Amino acid sequence: MAIPQRIYTPTRSRNYQRPLIFDIILFNHIGNNVELSVVISVLIFSNLHFVLIKINIERLLIIGFIGQTSNTPLFIIIMTSQSNVSIYFPQKLVFGKGVLQDLPQEIASLAVQKVLIVTIEPLLNPLAFFIEALQSQGIEVAIDTSIIQEPTFDDFLTLVEKVRPFNPDAIVGIGGGSVLDVAKLIAAQLDNPQQLHEYVGIGLLKKRPKKLICVPATAGTGSEVSPNAILVDNADNQKKGIISPYLVPDLVYADPLLTLSVPASITAATGLDALTHCLEAYTNKFATLFIDMYAYEGMRLIAANLEKAVTDGKDEEARTQVALGSLLGGFCLGPVNTAGVHALSYPLGSSFHLAHGLSNALLLPHVMAFNIPSSPEKYAKVAQALGCIHTGDDLSTAYAGVEKIKALSKACGVPSSLREVGIPKEAIPQMAKDALKIQRLLKNNPRTIEEADAIAIFETAY
Ligand SMILES: NC(=O)c1ccc[n+]([C@@H]2O[C@H](COP(=O)([O-])OP(=O)(O)OC[C@H]3O[C@@H](n4cnc5c(N)ncnc54)[C@H](O)[C@@H]3O)[C@@H](O)[C@H]2O)c1
Ligand SMILES: [Zn+2]
Repeated sequence: MAIPQRIYTPTRSRNYQRPLIFDIILFNHIGNNVELSVVISVLIFSNLHFVLIKINIERLLIIGFIGQTSNTPLFIIIMTSQSNVSIYFPQKLVFGKGVLQDLPQEIASLAVQKVLIVTIEPLLNPLAFFIEALQSQGIEVAIDTSIIQEPTFDDFLTLVEKVRPFNPDAIVGIGGGSVLDVAKLIAAQLDNPQQLHEYVGIGLLKKRPKKLICVPATAGTGSEVSPNAILVDNADNQKKGIISPYLVPDLVYADPLLTLSVPASITAATGLDALTHCLEAYTNKFATLFIDMYAYEGMRLIAANLEKAVTDGKDEEARTQVALGSLLGGFCLGPVNTAGVHALSYPLGSSFHLAHGLSNALLLPHVMAFNIPSSPEKYAKVAQALGCIHTGDDLSTAYAGVEKIKALSKACGVPSSLREVGIPKEAIPQMAKDALKIQRLLKNNPRTIEEADAIAIFETAY
């Protein structure tokens, strides 16, 4: 989206006691990894003339003044971080126990004739009513359950070819992040001349021709509201992200009852993943107040309810609170996104096929401890969201938060070390190299992570 503009804003004040301001917006460019805008303002006081130049690259704002006081030229440059926030919301979001019952009617109202449901085998029984309800409205339904976990480019491309002849009008993804990500991409790929390798990355996808409905069945990735989809590239075994506003669905139905069947170990790992989304957004280099509210509440809800949801999977209240926390975490992903934990966990998923949530859970306390010196106040607030009492000292409170995460993982039965999950120690240097490639997330981390730091973090987590 390039929007070159030249806008001339006339005088804001005709009173010469106050400055006369002319704004000239030279250029606005949003897309392909950068947001760039250049604004020049000319300020004329009675005897002082200033030119104010604002250059906004991504979220960095560079302000320069060029002016003259009597005969002395003046030039000042200020650099500051922007707290702009831009969010793509789904057109409609419905959250609550049992809301899935209403979805067939809603889909029928979209006047679609053919629907592709991408889901998983364990959900076919609970979804029987849903499929019948669609068919009874005269809608033709095709179902695919080929996506199991951590989908690859090949998984996606195979499925696209399989469903192309059916040519659905709408794609309904009902499952965990793996299923939702693939459903999102199928809705974008069908009837789209662009090829996958042309839109891997940020802001490269040009359209999404099909209607998209997402129903999360884990709590979880928050993929249902995020503009992201993650696939493993078979060529180099690396996880690659496709990030685009076109991947935000038209309709989201989040029914926590669907998560009742998630096994305990997956509940634990996915719940800690959701908590990590909130935590990494809250402590992010580009954190912003609007998203902090989602992130803080998400951490609070998940920390207070995850153990209950794991130990008694039928506890509907705990499941609902964790699902809500996961949804809030999903809203953090587009505008702010994750950071060091996710970057370092990528090699665990791509090289050792560890589930996404488990990889994050294993690294979370260690990346937190590494990051605390960069912002003890924020990590003290994290600790409070997790249920710790502020000791009166930010640093000790922040470290109490790390212990709280370790205790929560333990109570949820999550392994506590890379050794326990069978990662060979010799793999650490390569894992660090691979993690360092994920700069799109590492740039968000509150403390710079170099290769040696990544090695040290992996070793502490071992
Ligand atoms: N798009 C995003 O914003 C985003 C964010 C984070 C992670 N991800 C991606 O999402 C994927 C991980 O998703 P996930 O953690 O939700 O797990 P998942 O979708 O991989 O599912 C994990 C396992 O749980 C099973 N399962 C899921 N729901 C179930 C249910 N209701 N009942 C019984 N079994 C169920 C699945 O069949 C699978 O075996 C990874 O590929 C990750 O990279 C995407
Ligand atoms: Zn995640």
